[in-house]
Amino acid sequence: MTSKLILVTGATGYIASRLIPRLLERGYRIRALARHPKRLKTRKWYSQVEVMQGDVTDPSSLPRALEGVWTAYYLIHNMSSGHGYASREIEGARNFASAAEAAGVEHIIYLGGLADPEQHIAPHLRSRIETGMTLRRGKVPVTEFRAGVIIGSGSISFEMIRFMTELFPVIPGPAWMRNKSQPIAAQNVVDYLLAALENHNGEGGAFEIGGPGSFTYRELMQKYAEIRGHKRGFLLLPCIPVWFMAFGIGWMTPVPYPIAYALAGGLSSDSVVRHGGAGETFPEVRLIDFESAVREAMKRLHPLEVEQVWDDGRDASLKHEGFFILHRKDRKAGEFIHRKFSFGEEWSNGQTLYFAPFGLCGFLYWAFRRLWW
Ligand SMILES: NC(=O)c1ccc[n+]([C@@H]2O[C@H](COP(=O)([O-])OP(=O)(O)OC[C@H]3O[C@@H](n4cnc5c(N)ncnc54)[C@H](OP(=O)(O)O)[C@@H]3O)[C@@H](O)[C@H]2O)c1
Repeated sequence: MTSKLILVTGATGYIASRLIPRLLERGYRIRALARHPKRLKTRKWYSQVEVMQGDVTDPSSLPRALEGVWTAYYLIHNMSSGHGYASREIEGARNFASAAEAAGVEHIIYLGGLADPEQHIAPHLRSRIETGMTLRRGKVPVTEFRAGVIIGSGSISFEMIRFMTELFPVIPGPAWMRNKSQPIAAQNVVDYLLAALENHNGEGGAFEIGGPGSFTYRELMQKYAEIRGHKRGFLLLPCIPVWFMAFGIGWMTPVPYPIAYALAGGLSSDSVVRHGGAGETFPEVRLIDFESAVREAMKRLHPLEVEQVWDDGRDASLKHEGFFILHRKDRKAGEFIHRKFSFGEEWSNGQTLYFAPFGLCGFLYWAFRRLWW
């Protein structure tokens, strides 16, 4: 057991929820920073970490969170906070860098977005790059990783691809779907984040990370469909307004409208690794191919595998990790009943109803099913 204390920010988020168990396996002491700590109560690792309330846009909440910390992971983004999120992201990073310096933190590890900052890129990608630059302006050395689409159950970029491909026999999209992306397995993202903790060769650097292949967004969906055994067509339209696409994505997938708006805008440029230095600096990371990463993500398509992010004492209706979910806290949970249809699969334990939709009929079924459950 090492006594080194690691701060993981964005603890309610996707990447942190995958990183924390692996840090615990390695014997690190973990402090998890969250704006709403009660959201963490149902995580399997809750009792093994020290949970602290904090918000990077409130500098007064940071000194206590950073006290005694050896290395801090910066896994925060603010895209869902609406208009002006980019300036809030910069402000948060600035507050964090100076509080880390004051607390004597030795290293900050940041995961941002993959884009060529010399090109015209979407505002949310620009903001991810500028967040890294802001962190680096402080005196604490920063290791930055820049990732594009992350393949793993619960990852927002993967869930967008999954729901769109599951639901639409013919997938509508902008001509931008011809742009390229280089997806990376969630496990490899965590591998890099862990490698940077002990391997200091990358300190001060910004590393573009991606899996072994690059594909157009359309090819990504096509490959996902093949792995799932679905036949899918595409309808590429030259001028769909981003707000309209974001509205459809927000309605049908787990991605909320403001994030969908930002992500859809991000499709307008390539998101591929141009500088391959990550492989040389962190040779311990063994890259996983796209198909294996998707198959691994699909193994979690069972209610017992799903992270219960809604279970903080409220009723909830949400789309999450491949499911439409309805949770009623006033009911008692019993045994799971499983039903399979041509348009989807359903599980219910009396308290929570899960439906994995397939095709538009699945979507319509859910629209009615939730009314009578
Ligand atoms: N997942 C992907 O597909 C993907 C792809 C490429 C890069 N990345 C990068 O990976 C990093 C982590 O992403 P993620 O997918 O784990 O994000 P996520 O699931 O959306 O989590 C973001 C986290 O940031 C927290 N947060 C937001 N504003 C905050 C504030 N002011 N103070 C403290 N915490 C705040 C959120 O807390 P609340 O629960 O309180 O909102 C949440 O825990 C981001 O930098 C993202 O750009 C992700």
